[in-house]
Amino acid sequence: MLEVDPSAPDRAAITRAAEALRAGLLMAFPTETVYGLGADALDPEAVGRIFVAKGRPADNPLIVHLPSLAAAEALVGPLPAVGKALAARFWPGPLSLVVPHQGNLPAAVTGGLSTVALRVPAHPVALALLEAVGVPVAAPSANRSGSPSPTTAQHVLTDLAEHVAGVLDGGPCKLGVESTVLDVTGPTPVLLRPGGLGIEELEAVTGGIVLPGPGAEGESLRARSPGTRYRHYAPRARVVLAAPTDVAALAQRWKGQGQRVGTLSPEPASPLGSGAPHWSAGPGAEGYARVLYAALRALDEAGCTLIVAATLPETGLGRAVMDRLRRAADAGAVEGEGR
Ligand code: TXA
Ligand code: MG
Repeated sequence: MLEVDPSAPDRAAITRAAEALRAGLLMAFPTETVYGLGADALDPEAVGRIFVAKGRPADNPLIVHLPSLAAAEALVGPLPAVGKALAARFWPGPLSLVVPHQGNLPAAVTGGLSTVALRVPAHPVALALLEAVGVPVAAPSANRSGSPSPTTAQHVLTDLAEHVAGVLDGGPCKLGVESTVLDVTGPTPVLLRPGGLGIEELEAVTGGIVLPGPGAEGESLRARSPGTRYRHYAPRARVVLAAPTDVAALAQRWKGQGQRVGTLSPEPASPLGSGAPHWSAGPGAEGYARVLYAALRALDEAGCTLIVAATLPETGLGRAVMDRLRRAADAGAVEGEGR
């Protein structure tokens, strides 16, 4: 593991990581959202290693990371106007833009689509690495496919130690949920994945955004983002969602049925007493996003068979947190009286 000071990345560590990437190896690095598993996006063999390491379905395309808007346009040509306005406003930041490409990227990066997702991450270590390496870097979240995304270097090692040349350790990720993925190939941007940048902020720039809802139309829009087809972010334990006021009663009920119950809620302590596994999400969506994946991993490690997780309002980061919670819970049903 290469430890780096997140505010003033150590040159030697960045240089070694960049050399590993240029040699076609995989290198994990911190971003403001989650840790990424990087490979030279122009090297099909290196990109292939990502899919092997993660156990990722081959048709799920990758996000290409760049150090600047200028580097993005050097790769794909001028961005569509609305994409360019968003990039100018929010890059570096937790926004991935799906744009047309020029056919010069390996099919494994794009999933064979005519589009590619681009992002300039807002993390000094990520930016230093992207500057140093000088090639676009394809990077999914650095977890085994299907398990919760990594928000610490230790999470990456737990999942992928034998697959990476190294991990740049920049400490825990600030946001804790992945970037917002927005398709800007058409007249109105389409939200493909809620994430670290709230749609309220996006709409202030674009005027409108299409939010794929349930039903056939939403389904066909969602099909543009292959990643959303797969169950994600799931711990081994079963996850049950509950309104905050219902968490205690549900936890008691499941405990009564013989489950080892963990809880994740705004409360400081477990409703099941001090010995019971519990993670506090704190009062707001920001705190919830920051601890979400670490909590799911830790509750698994504590041997929980069932996790009762509190729901939260779907505004700002809350939309992304609820999206990940629903995927972790799979069925998406919220139990209890509260709704
Ligand atoms: O915050 C993040 O976005 C992190 C960090 C490392 O940057 N990366 C990340 O990558 O979350 P990944 O691979 O776990 O998720 C990429 C998502 C998937 O849902 C994928 O289907 C979608 O982006 N995607 C990638 N390229 C696409 C494309 N051309 N069209 C539509 N969706 C695309
Ligand atoms: Mg992922």
